[in-house]
Parts: sequence; C-alpha cells; structure tokens
Amino acid sequence: MTKDNKLQVEAIKNGSVIDHIPAHSGIKVLRLFQLHQTQNRVTIGLNLPSSVQGLKDLIKIENVFIDEELANQLALLAPNATVNRIEDYEVTKKLTLSLPQKVNRVFQCPNSNCITHSEPVDTSFAVIAKNDSIKLKCKYCEKAFSRESVAERR
Ligand code: CTP
Ligand code: ZN
Repeated sequence: MTKDNKLQVEAIKNGSVIDHIPAHSGIKVLRLFQLHQTQNRVTIGLNLPSSVQGLKDLIKIENVFIDEELANQLALLAPNATVNRIEDYEVTKKLTLSLPQKVNRVFQCPNSNCITHSEPVDTSFAVIAKNDSIKLKCKYCEKAFSRESVAERR
C-alpha cells in the first residue's frame, strides 16, 4: 500500500479508488461525473500529501467498478489520475488514463447561443488534442473551446 496516504483515508474492501487527482479538482470530478449519486459509501481525501505531486485529491467509491470508458472521461479533468479496482482489499487492476474521443452529457457548452441551452439534448463534444493543448468541439454549434474554459463552467 502507498506511502502517500497510508492511514489518511481508510482502505476499502471492494470498489474503485481514483487516485492522484490534482489537488482542488476532486470536488469537481465528483460533481461533474455525479460520483456521489449512489447509495454506496464514498470517501474523499483532499489536499493529501503526495510524493509525486505535492498535494493530491482522492476519491474512493465502495462496490462500484469504474469502467475504462468512464475512467478515460476523467482524464479531461485529471489526466494523471489512476483508477484502481479493489477486490477483497487487493488492487486487481490499475488503469492509467488516456483521453477519450468524445465526452457526452458532462460539460455544458460555453456558447450561450448553442441549441443545447434551449433544447433538451445531451451535450456532446469531440476531444481534439493538438500540440499539448486540448480542445473540445461542440457537436451542435461546432465551436471549439479550450479544455479549461469548458471544464471550469460548472
Ligand atoms: N487502496 C484502498 N483500499 C485498498 C487497497 C488500496 O483504498 N484495499 C488505495 C490506496 O490507498 C491507494 C490506491 O488504492 O490510494 C492504490 O493502491 P496501491 O496501488 O497499493 O498504491 P500505490 O502503489 O501507491 O499506487 P500508485 O503507484 O498508483 O501511486
Ligand atoms: Zn455548442
């Protein structure tokens, strides 16, 4: 078990641990991906000391196994996070994240004239990674926005 957070947040028996979330992004990850909308126990650690990143946030969700598709969506907010699968107290799978091609239903379009604000449609953005910058292009208004400007909206 990690030296980073031993005893900082209790170990879980079964479920998922999202580790190495940038400090101050944990709450946003929780909220945008609705990870707290469950009856299962969720524990979070904020501003935990981390040997690799100074401070980190961490989210543990018991009895829920985060699949690769959702894990990769998390990469938009926490590119260096790892998603651990825990079974009977053991880490049985450790996913490192790669950017998804699309992100649906998570972010709102920053363009106030976009039809997604007036029609009951799911938002959908194509993820465009170019020269270290990540842009999200709205499927409906076709405008491209920086990852930061989309992620910071709510
Ligand atoms: N963890 C947990 N419950 C367990 C086992 C592990 O909550 N029963 C958590 C650990 O606290 C850690 C994460 O799952 O936050 C990953 O565990 P582990 O791979 O053992 O830690 P590290 O080796 O430090 O992981 P990494 O190399 O990804 O930093
Ligand atoms: Zn739009």
